[in-house]
Amino acid sequence: MQEILQELEKRRAQARMGGGEARIDAQHKRGKLTARERLEVLLDPGSFEEYDMFVEHRNTDFGMQEQRIPGDGVVTGHGTINGRLVFVFSQDFTVFGGALSETFAEKICKVMDRAASVGAPVIGINDSGGARIQEGVASLAGYADVFQRNIEQSGVIPQLSLIMGPCAGGAVYSPAMTDFIFMVKDTSYMFVTGPEVVKTVTQETVTQEQLGGAITHTTKSSVADLAFENDVEALLQTRRFFDFLPLNNKEKPPVRESFDRADRLEMSLDTLIPDNPNKPYDMLELISKVVDEGDFMEVQPKFAGNIITGFGRMEGSTVGIVANQPMVLAGCLDIDSSRKAARFVRFCDAFNIPIVTFVDVPGFLPGTAQEYGGIIKHGAKLLFAFGEATVPKVTVITRKAYGGAYDVMSSKHLRGDVNYAWPTAEIAVMGAKGAVEIIFRKDIGDAEKIAEHTRNYEARFANPFVAASRGFIDEVIMPHSTRRRIANSLRILKNKDVRNPWKKHDNLPL
Ligand code: HXC
Repeated sequence: MQEILQELEKRRAQARMGGGEARIDAQHKRGKLTARERLEVLLDPGSFEEYDMFVEHRNTDFGMQEQRIPGDGVVTGHGTINGRLVFVFSQDFTVFGGALSETFAEKICKVMDRAASVGAPVIGINDSGGARIQEGVASLAGYADVFQRNIEQSGVIPQLSLIMGPCAGGAVYSPAMTDFIFMVKDTSYMFVTGPEVVKTVTQETVTQEQLGGAITHTTKSSVADLAFENDVEALLQTRRFFDFLPLNNKEKPPVRESFDRADRLEMSLDTLIPDNPNKPYDMLELISKVVDEGDFMEVQPKFAGNIITGFGRMEGSTVGIVANQPMVLAGCLDIDSSRKAARFVRFCDAFNIPIVTFVDVPGFLPGTAQEYGGIIKHGAKLLFAFGEATVPKVTVITRKAYGGAYDVMSSKHLRGDVNYAWPTAEIAVMGAKGAVEIIFRKDIGDAEKIAEHTRNYEARFANPFVAASRGFIDEVIMPHSTRRRIANSLRILKNKDVRNPWKKHDNLPL
């Protein structure tokens, strides 16, 4: 008996060595952790239970029958993060460069299926040279099996991707269909085709970093949501992020103990809005003063800075925050910000996370670049996302809410549940200057008359009371009471039950 037990230990130890000492050293030299070390940082100590440790590939081409490594290049199983269940796969670059084989894909599909059946998220750690070249179409089929699960499980369980090495070809499309992508600076790349192919086809000379590094994808393409300095930071921040998420689409967001009073007043908010309506202020200050303990985890902070998206908590319970940022492009809505926020709103709605929206928006960004780029369709994405969302929606207009952008930003008309305005709010079709130039065009040469019309227009519309008199704003509130008001609203909306009409699915303007 003892011998049999020892044999198991021996086999396990061999599997844990992956591609061997030399390749593990090479991985470390690049500043990367191994597949197993990553899981140790990600999961609660001792919580990881591995599946399929002895699975080997079935390939016999190109001498592969001589090269079988137990586990076949991906470590799979389940564990916990702060006590909550999560399924994981971690690709092992030390085994055939983490390349995906038929059996490798089967292992990933097994954890994905189990995760979906018990209603727990999947976190995939990607560090792979793509399809295993020796296997040909079998590995392409394996990728597609993973893709199909990504699709079916979208909106059912949260799916997170960590990119911790090269990710080319098929390897990028599975992460692309997951909810969030986190990358590590200088060691991770995502591209459909690498720099050599780019050079051949377009004659462009570009490095891996420029083409698909973490900075590129978090600032230019918006493919990735967050970039971290190293593996450890990425994994620890993933633990923090995971704590905001429900385990599946039937659960409410997790609640954790909060030591921040719901009725905390923030007197400094009474002076947040500058006297000059064209002067910006930092919307992040408002957000951090409203959420529990000032803990706000921003998503896509380096892309489309004119809108802020991220997670915080109110009375311990997760909320998604969407806010115009007057510091960037005066908080205008444009193509990038509409797409960014629409995707975020849809994630929140899919996973029962209430949405708190802070509005200071002078309108949609004008210009040919925006029109040719399809701002009509992209802006409609955000409109659509807010309008279809059935989760509790609380909106606070702090200053400008002009034109179509007023409608879009979780207005009463898009089933906003509780819509507040600060006394500094200006809710109108457009700013006074623009409005006067159109409706009093004949007086344009007369500066005095124009100034008077502008004053009149401002007196009539540069306030929240016209909208409040129609019930489009439920209450005009003191800025210092914003946290208390939002917390109260979310409390009464806890059991909100609104459903959209039955349909196969909607036809979001993609
Ligand atoms: C089999 C692979 C492999 C692959 C790497 N290896 N990629 N084995 N299939 N796709 C092996 C290498 O032979 C090497 O083995 C080990 O992994 C480490 O690779 P290196 O090249 O030494 O490492 P590095 O210099 O860091 O370069 C990493 C890399 C490069 C950038 C990923 O290996 C590379 O470009 N690989 C090919 C990428 C690719 O074209 N994949 C196919 C994409 S197409 P030894 O034994 O020497 O350690 C695709 C289609 C799917 O994925 C489409 C689905 C829709």
